[in-house]
Amino acid sequence: MGRLAVLISGRGSNLQALIDAIEIGKLDAKIVLVISDRPGAWGLSRAEKAGIPTKVIPWEGEDGRTAYFEKMVGILHEAQVDLVILAGFMRLLSANLIKAFPHQIINIHPSLLPAFPGLGAQRQALEYGVKVSGCTVHFVDEGLDTGPIIVQRAVPVCDSDTEETLSDRILAQEHETLPEAVALVLSREWQIRGRKVICEY
Ligand code: GRF
Repeated sequence: MGRLAVLISGRGSNLQALIDAIEIGKLDAKIVLVISDRPGAWGLSRAEKAGIPTKVIPWEGEDGRTAYFEKMVGILHEAQVDLVILAGFMRLLSANLIKAFPHQIINIHPSLLPAFPGLGAQRQALEYGVKVSGCTVHFVDEGLDTGPIIVQRAVPVCDSDTEETLSDRILAQEHETLPEAVALVLSREWQIRGRKVICEY
């Protein structure tokens, strides 16, 4: 059974989707640790309610970046984590963490990458005028939302959409997509050729 760590900064609804998928037997995994860079993150309460250990590592600014993630590497190793999931974690990881967990860190992003990376992806999609957007789960590399794509799901963009209505429509898909992507990665039935994640079944 895969041992997961989930990194959050806020609401934690994707964390909740993982908790629920495990509880109903859709995902064979155990969340062994939830880490937040913000003490008040709502997702911490969700983890506590589910009996999952939590750890707050407060962000101390860009100057302490490498040391911050070195500390996190130690904590993740100690927890014997197989897969690290960024679920609304709002920091760019540093190279030392990525190297410590090769192809063992994934992120969920609310757009069809490579369109609209970074903050405000739903707003970017609306401003650009695309007719379709969606969500992407990808492996994390050192770039901003640039790693190999594992799963994508599309949703329509309506003329009447606001940032909120589009975000809600995408979020509903995120909650389906993330547990599926985690199950796929844990199955090890994939390989990476170039940028492509190829499923072997
Ligand atoms: C999600 O839209 C996710 O794609 C993005 O941040 C948001 C986190 O939401 N990276 P939540 O904290 O999981 O509710």
